[in-house]
Amino acid sequence: MNQLQSSRNDDISGKTYDPLDSAVQQNPYSYYTKLRRDEPVKWIESLKAFAVADYDNVDALLKNGKLYSSAQFWPELLGEYDPVPEVLPMISMDPPNHMHLRKIANKAFTPTKVAALQQRATDIANQLIDDLIAKYGKEGECDWVWDFTALFPVTVISDVLGVPTDRRAEFKVWVDDLLSAANRAAYGPERLAQIRKHSDELRAFFEEIYDQRSANLGDDIISTLIQAEVNGERLTRHEVLSMSVLLLIGGVETTTNLLGSTLVALHQHPDVYERVRADHSLIPALLEEVLRFNPPVQMIFRHTTEDTELGGVAIPKGSCVMPLLASANRDESKFANSEVFDIDRKIEVPLMSFGQGPHFCLGSFLSRMEARKALEVVFTRLEVLTPLSSEVHWLESYFARGPHELRVRYKAR
Ligand code: HEM
Repeated sequence: MNQLQSSRNDDISGKTYDPLDSAVQQNPYSYYTKLRRDEPVKWIESLKAFAVADYDNVDALLKNGKLYSSAQFWPELLGEYDPVPEVLPMISMDPPNHMHLRKIANKAFTPTKVAALQQRATDIANQLIDDLIAKYGKEGECDWVWDFTALFPVTVISDVLGVPTDRRAEFKVWVDDLLSAANRAAYGPERLAQIRKHSDELRAFFEEIYDQRSANLGDDIISTLIQAEVNGERLTRHEVLSMSVLLLIGGVETTTNLLGSTLVALHQHPDVYERVRADHSLIPALLEEVLRFNPPVQMIFRHTTEDTELGGVAIPKGSCVMPLLASANRDESKFANSEVFDIDRKIEVPLMSFGQGPHFCLGSFLSRMEARKALEVVFTRLEVLTPLSSEVHWLESYFARGPHELRVRYKAR
């Protein structure tokens, strides 16, 4: 059995890493390898930022929230399309203020709380497979991204937030549009008006939910946030709205992409597909390797608060720094045969896929649990689930990675 198969590493000699180049977005990994080898800390002219490609420097900078601030992350991502511009969300706060909010949020996402959601995640996955069969029949073709991977996490997070799941298709559109605001400089007035409209709709939706919950508290997260206290003070309306938007954005696209990239990996490694189908206890190891090898969040952003130096490169105060999480995960000094997809590997250092340091992903337990439950249901209910093509059209993004669509043939048992 050969479960060790190399990834495709294109010949890119003579080419430079430009995250805005769509060819780079489709296959960034050869560029990351070259950066780690030749220039692990490199100025990227197109983004006016320093890219950081090696594990140790990525790890060190993410753990130093004072020097590498998150404050500009959200404003840069969403610009004027932030649905709650009155306050910065937790992901864009620096220590020590960040920790107050994070402590409250942590309470809602402990492993115990997440474990309590397992049955619900299984039920949601089963319901989606029922819907698929009702729509296209017991066997047929569909777009796995639209018909399953996009709907599953948005339904789970709606449940966690206690908001009606019948509006999940709208949520998905709102979140997609908000995230696309990162490319706003390249859009014309029509597209920008659409993003504005969806940002306003999302805000109006959470305003309504806030009013409902304040009048009638439940045991959902929004009610928890409304009642929570930091240093004896309640969160303001804007703080609760902002956290709700952050959870929706954080919880939707990322897990969708993890599930989509997992099916791509299984298609590329049929021996692994066979083993995991036969033995569902391998699913967690499969997911860890997909998270390492092809993570949904390729990079994040920080800004320096002082002049500093990283990897021998001088970085002036106020510079944008991009830790390339996906590159750190393939650092050959930390992961043996790092360019090989191997679900049996022993992972000895933390993956960078969920970040590191104070902003380490709040939803890491939730997304791993969700993805595991989804795959258990899918492998149990569908005896065939095969992409129609080996060509993958990845999202046109330099920070989010997952298949844009994935036409598959399926057959239910
Ligand atoms: C495979 C799925 C996921 C990936 C790859 C992922 C990735 C990340 C990364 C890289 C960060 C760090 C950002 C930074 O340091 O600036 C982060 C933070 C965060 N994630 Fe996730 N995420 C995933 C799923 C989720 C889910 C399901 C939720 C929702 C419940 C979520 C909510 C958050 C929040 C709220 C933060 C900010 C934490 C803070 O600022 O303290 N994520 N995530």
